[in-house]
Amino acid sequence: MVDLQKIVKQINGIRNIYMWSGKGGVGKTTAAINLATWLAASGRKVAVVDTDSHPNTSSLKDMSKVREDRRYTLSDVIQREKPFLDAMYQVRNGLYVVPSETNIEVAKTHIIINEAQDVLLDRFYALMAQLAPPPEDPPFWQEKTYLAPHHLPPLAELSDLEMQAPPAYLEYIIWDFAAEPGALGKAILRLPKGEIWSPVLLEPYPLLAFAQMKQQTTQMFQYHPVERRPVLKGVFPFMLTHKTEKVTEEFAKLYLAHQDIFMHPIHNDDKVAATQDYYPAQSIYEVDQTSRAGREFFELAMRLDGYQGSFGKKTHCPHCEAIYEWARQQSGGEGA
Ligand SMILES: Nc1ncnc2c1ncn2[C@@H]1O[C@H](COP(=O)(O)OP(=O)(O)OP(=O)(O)O)[C@@H](O)[C@H]1O
Ligand SMILES: [Mg+2]
Repeated sequence: MVDLQKIVKQINGIRNIYMWSGKGGVGKTTAAINLATWLAASGRKVAVVDTDSHPNTSSLKDMSKVREDRRYTLSDVIQREKPFLDAMYQVRNGLYVVPSETNIEVAKTHIIINEAQDVLLDRFYALMAQLAPPPEDPPFWQEKTYLAPHHLPPLAELSDLEMQAPPAYLEYIIWDFAAEPGALGKAILRLPKGEIWSPVLLEPYPLLAFAQMKQQTTQMFQYHPVERRPVLKGVFPFMLTHKTEKVTEEFAKLYLAHQDIFMHPIHNDDKVAATQDYYPAQSIYEVDQTSRAGREFFELAMRLDGYQGSFGKKTHCPHCEAIYEWARQQSGGEGA
């Protein structure tokens, strides 16, 4: 017997985040992995779901370490009715990954051929029914007026046994989108309470793709009731450099158009590329927390979690500040 009340309560207690921006290679996977790791380090329980046929997020888990008859991916969840929890592997304390695979395309075809847009909705509700409610108290750091990475206790090492344990509860599900989400992405977008978070590369094609993504989403859900539409909740410039005037101009435009949901940018940082030298994949949390991108991902993750306090002056960028200031003057208001 399905306990509807429990499912509704679970859905209300969970953040359902789509890392999507409309274009390939703009940083969706990097953002998903790094934000998820910082959230887990802050004590949150987070699952990252890879939906891409280039399964980069999946490399958080070395599947060769999993018994062959227990190796499940998102494909099995969609095609074989495997519960989400069976395909969820703990990779850090509180951080879980649902891997994808190169032939996730078959799962997309499965959705199209069987007109199975509801397949993910079913699996999602089933997952909600299996999870315990998350704790209601806010984490200790939410109360702090000033927050730095060293305030968070280090992520505990996991034993092999712990790696096999499914989560008792989850506070975040982060879906790492493919550049072109297709049938699978569209099925995911129909899940309840979806929030889109977009890393935006300030170059012509990514900006165009971002605009198209917003338009596509609006069109797709124009006949749905408002509460059933995914909502754009966060926009942040990604791999930002301040090399050209054009970038400054695009930054200001993006900021003015999205002031309420504008998050501070993640700058271009070689340390991020260095995180990709590892298998299983590492995040900036492990590689260098004090790097610029390390601090910026930390701050972005905490803001995403709703932290309102201060981080001190450390990552303030004079170029960005000048753009905010200019844009505020343009709009004639106080701004963010
Ligand atoms: N802040 C950064 N500084 C420098 N390089 C970065 C930064 N963030 C990401 N990169 C690099 O940019 C590349 C693309 O990033 P990523 O794979 O996250 O994009 P994506 O949007 O997920 O791409 P796809 O659409 O192919 O899935 C990666 O090689 C990554 O190392
Ligand atoms: Mg990716």
